[in-house]
Amino acid sequence: MTDPSARLIDGKAFAASLRQSIATEVGRLKDRLGTVPGLAVLMVGDDPASDVYVRNKARQTAECGMKSVERRFAASLTETDLLEEIARLNDDPTIHGILVQLPLPAHINADRVIAAIRPDKDVDGFHPVNAGLLATGGKGLVPCTPLGCLLLLRDVLGDMTGLQAVVVGRSNIVGKPMAQLLLQESCTVTVAHSRTRDLPAICRQADILVAAVGRPAMIRGDWIKPGATVIDVGINRIAAEGGKTRLTGDVAFDEAARVAGAITPVPGGVGPMTIACLLRNTLTAFARINNQD
Ligand code: GUN
Repeated sequence: MTDPSARLIDGKAFAASLRQSIATEVGRLKDRLGTVPGLAVLMVGDDPASDVYVRNKARQTAECGMKSVERRFAASLTETDLLEEIARLNDDPTIHGILVQLPLPAHINADRVIAAIRPDKDVDGFHPVNAGLLATGGKGLVPCTPLGCLLLLRDVLGDMTGLQAVVVGRSNIVGKPMAQLLLQESCTVTVAHSRTRDLPAICRQADILVAAVGRPAMIRGDWIKPGATVIDVGINRIAAEGGKTRLTGDVAFDEAARVAGAITPVPGGVGPMTIACLLRNTLTAFARINNQD
């Protein structure tokens, strides 16, 4: 059976310790300033996966001592009404982070909605101003999932200068910002995607391999360079025995764990880091808005 030689990267434990340090800092701010960071999460419609994420975000926000505002709207909400709600939150001095859960219903233009959020409250880091600041090395807000991957990579590898990094996936949410972050770490970065020729050969060059494609177990063991650090961003729900479902990543874990030096499991790897980094971004936004940073 499985004989993993790779070190398991425990994102669950790392995220718990990050949340703990955020809670401590929130407590300090409350004592010193009499206020706490506030995060508003907006959801339109009733997508079951989004429902779970939004509930977890609100719970963890409150657990670390921040103000949590959860707004849920029917799928029939108009874009105009959503934009008005965002304008109110932009002007609300008790709110420092605004997140609109994606996907949105088809009649709402997600790009227009994201662009309406004040960039310094855009804790998802999706606003074009934040994407631009990331690309130019400025001080913006960084998307939560790639930020979580970066924190895990720094913990495992320390200095990444000169390493070959391959990011599989080119989304605005993960692939592109991940590539920018790795470039800032002085890695040599390749962004591969569904049209890349000979993907296995490209992956085999990677000292750092980040998989964010959304296809279960697509990346096989013989695509991995021996000793590589593998970060699996995939969260795919697949059929399991007894009519149940289970979560699996984009990497064929058992095969990859025999070759890699370190690897994130799914679940318990990157997943828990995303909300922890959302809380970190909210704290960052609060500090900047209040000139504490
Ligand atoms: N839907 C899936 N992932 C995300 C995320 O990171 N942010 C938002 N806003 N929606 C999502």
